[in-house]
Amino acid sequence: MLVTGGAGYIGTHTCIALIEAGHTVVVADNLCNSKRESIEKFKKIMNTHIPFYEIDVSNRKAVETIFENHQLDGVIHFAGLKAVGESVEKPSLYYENNVVSTLVLVNCCLKFGVNRFVFSSSATVYGDNKVPFVETMDLLPTTNPYGETKAICERILTDIAKANPSFSVSLLRYFNPIGAHESGLIGEAPNGIPNNLMPYITQVAKGMRDYLSIFGNDYPTIDGTGVRDYIHVMDLAEGHVAAIHAMLQGVHIYNLGTGQGTSVLQLVKAFEEANGVTIRYEIVERRPGDLACCYADVEKARQELGWIAKRDVVTMCKDAWRFEKNTLHQGV
Ligand code: NAD
Ligand code: UD1
Repeated sequence: MLVTGGAGYIGTHTCIALIEAGHTVVVADNLCNSKRESIEKFKKIMNTHIPFYEIDVSNRKAVETIFENHQLDGVIHFAGLKAVGESVEKPSLYYENNVVSTLVLVNCCLKFGVNRFVFSSSATVYGDNKVPFVETMDLLPTTNPYGETKAICERILTDIAKANPSFSVSLLRYFNPIGAHESGLIGEAPNGIPNNLMPYITQVAKGMRDYLSIFGNDYPTIDGTGVRDYIHVMDLAEGHVAAIHAMLQGVHIYNLGTGQGTSVLQLVKAFEEANGVTIRYEIVERRPGDLACCYADVEKARQELGWIAKRDVVTMCKDAWRFEKNTLHQGV
């Protein structure tokens, strides 16, 4: 299995789940948002050799070399840029990186007869549909170029699968992955100031940031703060293994979430209770582009993949904190 972006947050955890399920993996990553060290760490966890190519997966020649060197049985395409704010400032970078890489990889699959392709999509493609989000909903415009790249790649892969009946595509729409591998060795370590909630909370707990800014408490939700479907990254990783095992011809779309909504304040409280720490926070203005509420309908994944998220919010909080305590940050 070729895992692009396999040095990143979700990619490293999925490599572990794949190896545990008996797959062999080859990783390709240009390390633009990750470190070689994470590959070393998951080799240590799994005690196994993993071929690693430090390449840009938009580079067709470099990608073809991997297809020539290895007998691949599928591709899981995690490689992509994911910072929403940056995508608004640098749209062409996002369209080029995220869309061209997908085209290069899918064309290599067709050329080399590799028939399984799993794509990292996002709940962001639902826009502000009514919750819970169901796979059959029409997609609504997203508020940023990052989200558009996901919607465009979904359409490209759908058209290519239609034209190539032996090709199987899984479009996996992730909700909000948080947490870390239970070893505490790998997890989410963003560069600079975190954009996302959980890494910000763990950095406040560690004393690296004074307080958490909570973006709005006047949403129509249980306590006025934004509600999301947080999923443990290892559950998400196992969702990929289930998707690969179930792959049928054609295009299949699955939500990977828990089906449970948790507000910002509920997550802060859960983190405090799980870890015996205090998180200082202040309520500030809403963040532009944020939705009040986002959670998944998970019935399709349960029925067709036989997969369901197993780890609760307390486990997510404990695992995220264990990893943060083990992590040295540079340039913060
Ligand atoms: P990440 O940044 O930790 O991992 C992505 C990896 O891809 C990084 O290691 C980066 O170096 C690599 N990469 C980026 N562009 C590349 C290129 N052109 N060639 C080679 N390598 C490249 O992000 P993540 O959280 O692990 O996300 C993985 C995928 O899941 C992304 O496509 C992201 O958009 C998608 N996704 C993530 C979330 C989330 O909340 N983390 C939610 C929905 C979807
Ligand atoms: C964001 C992106 C989404 C992307 C995902 C993963 C936006 C609008 N959406 O999702 O496209 O797929 O990250 O990269 O950026 N919050 C705070 N304070 C903080 C950080 C977050 O209150 O410092 C709140 C947010 O308002 C939201 C919740 O916490 O209600 C979760 O935020 P975040 O972790 O950034 O995820 P999303 O906004 O769901």
